Amino acid sequence: MSDLNKLITDTNATLARIVKDHSPAVFASSLAAEDMVLTDLILKGKLDIGIFSLETGRLHPETLAMLDRVKERYDGYEIALYKPQTEAVDAYVAQNGLNAFYDSVEMRRECCRIRKVEPLGRALAGNKAWVTGQRRAQSATRTSLMVEEDDPAHLMTKFNPLADWSEADIWNYIRDNDVPYNALHDQGYPSIGCAPCTRAIEPGEDVRAGRWWWENPDSKECGLHMVDGKLIRIKSVAA
Ligand code: ADX
Ligand code: SF4
Repeated sequence: MSDLNKLITDTNATLARIVKDHSPAVFASSLAAEDMVLTDLILKGKLDIGIFSLETGRLHPETLAMLDRVKERYDGYEIALYKPQTEAVDAYVAQNGLNAFYDSVEMRRECCRIRKVEPLGRALAGNKAWVTGQRRAQSATRTSLMVEEDDPAHLMTKFNPLADWSEADIWNYIRDNDVPYNALHDQGYPSIGCAPCTRAIEPGEDVRAGRWWWENPDSKECGLHMVDGKLIRIKSVAA
């Protein structure tokens, strides 16, 4: 078996175990390449894992276009959307301006809290587990990422089924299976978040160099994957 086939087999086994032992479970998709691999495995496998996206109100049109491309490709499947609370966004913008996240890490985290972290809490409510497309090789903040972790912030188990996958594995899977992917990936964007906080990278730069590029690499997490403001990795007791 090729290395990629082994990864696919292991990932399918993880997803099947999530359905069997951790339902109801949901998958958080940013609509970027990793998340399209998981979307393909979940929808082709007809697995009972609901898919949602956090629609922050600042996504690129190319990212939003993925919602229709998923619908076309996977028999009309509609990814559930969670949006920020209008009052919270309006208050932040009125007080700090539309792009205050460039001013400080605190301002940036507050914007991420309003546009991503609070809606994530609503998306996860009532579930026993959630799934992400994070990979260990993605960044300095993810080198000790595990496939299965406890998530004390949301009081549930968190799965990162692609933890062991490399960037090349992701793209080989996408090519082999003709999976739709965000057009920005062909324009120098290996990692895609909100439009004002993501830029294209130069050849040889780190894959997350274009995310919050004005910040130190150690602070580059939006809060989706943090507990009390810190990144902690807790091995799940069942793992
Ligand atoms: S981020 O936390 O720095 O934004 P990144 O873009 O690498 O993370 O994505 C890591 C994982 O977080 C994704 O695979 C996905 O599971 C989740 N995620 C990130 N952004 C979103 C989003 N807008 N909607 C849903 N899930 C997201
Ligand atoms: Fe706000 Fe930027 Fe965070 Fe998006 S990535 S929520 S625009 S700070």
